[in-house]
Amino acid sequence: MLVSAKEMLQKAKAGKYAVGQFNINNLEWTKAILLTAQEMNSPVILGVSEGAGKYMAGYTTIVGMVNGMLKELNITVPVALHLDHGSYEGCLKCIEAGFSSVMFDGSHYPIDENVAKTTELVKICNEKGMSLEAEVGSIGGEEDGVVGAGECADPDECKAIADLGVTMLAAGIGNIHGKYPANWAGLSFETLAAVQEKTGEMPLVLHGGTGIPEDTIKKAISLGVAKINVNTECQLSFADATRKYIEAGKDLEGKGFDPRKLLAPGFEAIKATVKEKMELFGSVNKAC
Ligand code: 13P
Repeated sequence: MLVSAKEMLQKAKAGKYAVGQFNINNLEWTKAILLTAQEMNSPVILGVSEGAGKYMAGYTTIVGMVNGMLKELNITVPVALHLDHGSYEGCLKCIEAGFSSVMFDGSHYPIDENVAKTTELVKICNEKGMSLEAEVGSIGGEEDGVVGAGECADPDECKAIADLGVTMLAAGIGNIHGKYPANWAGLSFETLAAVQEKTGEMPLVLHGGTGIPEDTIKKAISLGVAKINVNTECQLSFADATRKYIEAGKDLEGKGFDPRKLLAPGFEAIKATVKEKMELFGSVNKAC
């Protein structure tokens, strides 16, 4: 059964580790992440962007696929199905479809409007026992056509949103979606420490997990980050493994063109990436 992300993230914050959110794109992605979480005995959050939601034929299709896998693959670790960077309408659709968690990205609204919309969603999510992520300050880079300049969050605004009763809070701290440019200035630990100081127990979320150096991840966790989002890194490892298979001409040997064979190296590559991240984030054996 899908669970809210609340309990797993409160435990992570208290235990000074982070739970990974891994974005899904299709059946192979979902199965690879769920099986790895089970093998690692780790809680996990499956992230779905609105674009990926459309790609996978809508939110109810995704809920059906994920619930089916939990049962058929005997997944017993805590799993949350979470809308990533949702609009207000997108959140309502996912709540209706059976997701267990949503993110309302109101970071592009003036703070008053972000507060008003987040307040409404807190009420609905509480009634349904779902978790809600809010965002203050924007995450840089491009994701599904939404381009963020990446401004650092104002700690007082973070407190205002945290006090509304959201489950977890994403604060822009110089992080960027996708690959980091060579001249990236790094995370603003000053902003993170100030946000943590103001928001106390609130689990903080680090978006743009791809390509952040290991020591930076560890320091961010020590400063209150309890959820880390990873998307591009799984895409890169899938693409790399698939390219190697094709370049080695394996699709031309025997039944190598069968999608179950063609997609297998990419599937294994996602598993390896997810395992590596769970070890780095410290969530291994934290499933109960
Ligand atoms: P990356 O694609 O940079 O890993 O970011 C993922 C993310 O933050 C999803 O919200």
